[in-house]
Amino acid sequence: MAKISIRNVHKNYGALNVLKPFSLEIEDGEFVVLVGPSGCGKSTMLKILAGLEPASGGSIMIGDRDVTDLAPGDRDIAMVFQNYALYPHLTVRQNIGFGLKMRGTAKAEMDRRIDDAARILEVTNYLDRRPKELSGGQRQRVALGRAIVRQPQAFLMDEPLSNLDAKLRVHMRAEIGALHRRIGVTTVYVTHDQIEAMTMAQRVVIMRDGEIQQIAPPDTLFQKPDNLFVAGFIGSPGMNFMTSEVVGGNTPHTRIFGQDVPLHGVRPPPGNVIAGLRPEHLALGAGPVSFKVNPTLVESLGSEKYIYFDSGGQKRMRDHAEDETTKSMIARVDHSGRLDAGEEVTLSFDPAELYLFDAETGKAIGK
Ligand SMILES: Nc1ncnc2c1ncn2[C@@H]1O[C@H](COP(=O)(O)OP(=O)(O)OP(=O)(O)O)[C@@H](O)[C@H]1O
Ligand SMILES: [Mg+2]
Repeated sequence: MAKISIRNVHKNYGALNVLKPFSLEIEDGEFVVLVGPSGCGKSTMLKILAGLEPASGGSIMIGDRDVTDLAPGDRDIAMVFQNYALYPHLTVRQNIGFGLKMRGTAKAEMDRRIDDAARILEVTNYLDRRPKELSGGQRQRVALGRAIVRQPQAFLMDEPLSNLDAKLRVHMRAEIGALHRRIGVTTVYVTHDQIEAMTMAQRVVIMRDGEIQQIAPPDTLFQKPDNLFVAGFIGSPGMNFMTSEVVGGNTPHTRIFGQDVPLHGVRPPPGNVIAGLRPEHLALGAGPVSFKVNPTLVESLGSEKYIYFDSGGQKRMRDHAEDETTKSMIARVDHSGRLDAGEEVTLSFDPAELYLFDAETGKAIGK
């Protein structure tokens, strides 16, 4: 186990800059998740860490060693990919032990490590089977076993669960978490799935267009997003955004859903802002700030309902660009009774839950 220091690593493919200078200190034994939309540079960063792709600049330390110019095999790390590519003609035991055998590990030592890994991953009963005789989740565990027996300084995992069905993914998510708690190996995990990131990570690195947007523990990302992108990316359904104006004076206020909303906690300069409100912070019935809407759609999820409504001229902001197609807002309310589209309802929110962002830069002004 070791800490990992990534210092100013950047990457160009020809003229294309896919990673802006990227710096991150990962603690010994920490579980860090890189998350962001497709093409934002997550796999590129992981491949550079593994030594499968050279960086265009910057340096990488694993423990006390500068590994920037070392070959993958000399970095003492193990990778688990989305395509776990087991050898079909080898048994589970041979698949797990393959890397050790290539390194010339003694048979007794190899058997001991394979048996240990098999016990941890609960695949002991399948050691003599071939991959085609296993379920997807069992195969994924064999791929993890291959990484564990190496006893590396760090695990690098690139979307290892994305080939599994939804139920198995949730199960394996928990298993990888438990595995990490048991053996405590420093892990860098890549996913585009914010729920995976939020549930597995000790710290999350949110990326966009090759650039780090925020590095924080999951709860902090949710409660104190640094900017519009992070606010919109974390949470499901996503935060509602609307353009608004701050009117100054002794008690600055803004207009949201046609209501004057006093701003207590923050004092943004007068002018345009983007206001954000999470769907779960809208409640059914009257409250501190109330307004009436005609839902365009009501989705029932049993004890919860998603109420879609038109923002009444205040456009919903998506990804810091006005998007006509998503100007409907969502309220996520606890309600198991009957509720129909087109029937007027009263919604309310507490102004303390309102987020404000700079309309020009997208940076958080406060909550
Ligand atoms: N060999 C390459 N040559 C040129 N461009 C590349 C190469 N590999 C990746 N890219 C580009 O670099 C950017 C980042 O790619 P990367 O694979 O790191 O994205 P990602 O965040 O892992 O996305 P995904 O979630 O889809 O896996 C993309 O725009 C991609 O097209
Ligand atoms: Mg990728």
